[in-house]
Amino acid sequence: MPDMALVNGQLTTLAEATVSVCDLGFLRGIGAFETLRSYAGHPHALSEHLRRLGAAAEALGIPPVLTEVEFRPQLAAAVQATGYSDVRVNLIVTPGLHTDGVFGADQPTVVVLLRELHEPPAAWYTDGVGAVTFRGARVCPQFKTTAYITGREGLLAAERAGAHEAIYCDEQGLIAEGVTSNVLILKDGAVLSPRISNLPGITRAGLQPLARAAGLEWQQADLTRDTCFEADEMWISSAVRELVPIVTLDGHSIGSGHPGPWASRLRAAYRAAAEADAARDAESS
Ligand SMILES: Cc1ncc(COP(=O)(O)O)c(C=O)c1O
Repeated sequence: MPDMALVNGQLTTLAEATVSVCDLGFLRGIGAFETLRSYAGHPHALSEHLRRLGAAAEALGIPPVLTEVEFRPQLAAAVQATGYSDVRVNLIVTPGLHTDGVFGADQPTVVVLLRELHEPPAAWYTDGVGAVTFRGARVCPQFKTTAYITGREGLLAAERAGAHEAIYCDEQGLIAEGVTSNVLILKDGAVLSPRISNLPGITRAGLQPLARAAGLEWQQADLTRDTCFEADEMWISSAVRELVPIVTLDGHSIGSGHPGPWASRLRAAYRAAAEADAARDAESS
């Protein structure tokens, strides 16, 4: 059961996968990527991830790659080749080999990594996790790019504080998102998501109708540390972790200091919807 990779369409084991040292992703850190997971072997929200990757690639001047019609069966075969029941998938696109400084030969590099999915520790959901805030912003916050220098600083600060996630704040103290997640709070029956620019998270988009169906409002708002300190619940969302309760922020307890009831309710609804999607995929393939 090996981890596998597709490098420009060629299926290989992850251990044997290589890209050129002249790739602009390596030389200049130019690239866009996606992370997604499968449920019952079916890649979740693949269309949405391909759409977001395509938009990021276009913004970076990378010609279109990975059309869904061609890619879907390729990915299904690659998932099967791993032999894992569920996989974590990374899609990475760079401009390809460098020709001149920061420019390339218009032949993008496309890499797909397929690794065994390890479910996050159960304690993250039962006990919640901590987060810290830090001053910083991502380059092109509306896209998922491979530039993680600032985010790494934040995550090092989180690690020093014994926290799980680091949260970007701008000069006004407004919260944008986590280094690898979206941030949401629940206050008086309304889910609030940051108004300032951040990644249009696919998990967050999936949670929105479920929260509304459960009777919660859903709004954008200017979120600060203080708004979070007064929240009933605080969560992060991302494709692999789904929805994780934040119980401390910069060492202050959020809500009761324990995961609130909505975190597990919404995560259960999200998972049920993802598993239903997988069952529909199985029927139609
Ligand atoms: C900066 C950032 N924001 C938000 C997210 C959550 O996005 P998604 O729900 O699409 O995984 C991620 C995921 O890795 C991320 O890196």
